[in-house]
Amino acid sequence: MTVESVPMPNNRREDKCPFQPSADLVRLHRQQQLPRVPAANPQLGAFDAVLLTRADDIRQVLADQSCEAGFAFDRDGPRTVMNQPGILLNYDGQEHLRYRRMLVGAFTVRRVRSLTEPIRRIAEKHLDDLAEAGPGADLVETFANPVPLMAVCELLGVPYADRAGIARRSSIGTDVGNSLAEQLENFEAMAAYMGDLVASARRNPGDNILGDLIRRHGAELSDDELVGMGNSILVAGHETVSSMIGLGTLALLRNPDQLAIVRDDDTAADSMVEELLRVLSVAPPLVRQASKAVTVNGQRIEAGEKIIASVLMANHGADLVPEDPDRLDVRRARVAHLAFGYGAHQCIGQHLARLELRIALPMLLRRFPTLDLLGDPDTLSYREDALVFGLTTLPVTW
Ligand code: HEM
Repeated sequence: MTVESVPMPNNRREDKCPFQPSADLVRLHRQQQLPRVPAANPQLGAFDAVLLTRADDIRQVLADQSCEAGFAFDRDGPRTVMNQPGILLNYDGQEHLRYRRMLVGAFTVRRVRSLTEPIRRIAEKHLDDLAEAGPGADLVETFANPVPLMAVCELLGVPYADRAGIARRSSIGTDVGNSLAEQLENFEAMAAYMGDLVASARRNPGDNILGDLIRRHGAELSDDELVGMGNSILVAGHETVSSMIGLGTLALLRNPDQLAIVRDDDTAADSMVEELLRVLSVAPPLVRQASKAVTVNGQRIEAGEKIIASVLMANHGADLVPEDPDRLDVRRARVAHLAFGYGAHQCIGQHLARLELRIALPMLLRRFPTLDLLGDPDTLSYREDALVFGLTTLPVTW
């Protein structure tokens, strides 16, 4: 196996087209042999990994308990945004199941459905803010960021008034470009903030996730674990959905026929959400380490080797979507996409994410039927160093 010199700090996209995997990724996807590529993320720094880009290969590895997610968790090492107890992705097997079971009740379809009206109200309020800001407003700052942040704050019992600090710290924590020293300093601020919330929830557990965890499992969970659980939900729950709303709006604006369907036909709302999740695939490549040798697509991956799975490439592969995989078709028949991962660690917040997108995007397009991009789409800037791919700003007019 050769080491390809394709840097993989993030889900690489085509220049000037944030919706398509880069030509390098497409080339690697087409070759029969699984390549090894240099990769990097804030937890591991630089590392070499076997790259998976085909949906079947990725499902096999993500379903295999011997391909571990929590391999890098160093219980005694310095704490960072990821190296913290309580974060589900730091555990495997029974230990992972134990933590996941404590949280899963908060994210069932039924519990999430009860958030429909609160999320609608949150979206309505921020559409008012957008109207007030007037044409030229930045959709990311006015709508795409605050709606999911406010939703996850409500769910967790985090005061929304603290949003500016939360957003800043979570964006630093998920930026691949930051040094370990910066990560450590930022982590201390995140841990101190969540630590205060945990202490106050221990005194007076509210009707939210932190309160529920303390009522049901307060005796078996340390404050340290509660801080990890709280912060991971806060970060995972807002960066991802916020990227999806910003990029999703851009994708629809660049495909006016698809935008008209979303605006005018509510029966297309569910398929629109799935298609945007698939096409945009905002999650970073998923990282695992083989604890024993595994054979994938006829090729042996040795024990100790790292594996990264490009969800973006898999979701655009002709093996998964035989017909025109790069085209946005909001009425496309359901595809078993991998935007939320697969297996034991599959996204716990997926029903919430779907609900937020299903509400926010059609509401935006109905309230502003003449919504359009302000300026040249080629000059838009993207968060290329961030773990979750997204837009920096999205100036709009109407
Ligand atoms: C469109 C939005 C979202 C996307 C694309 C997304 C994507 C993902 C992916 C791909 C994974 C699997 C990671 C891996 O296997 O390495 C994951 C896990 C996770 N997600 Fe999401 N996510 C989204 C929204 C959310 C929300 C709204 C929450 C919570 C409020 C959330 C919380 C989590 C947690 C806690 C995990 C870890 C689960 C585990 O390890 O058992 N995510 N997400």
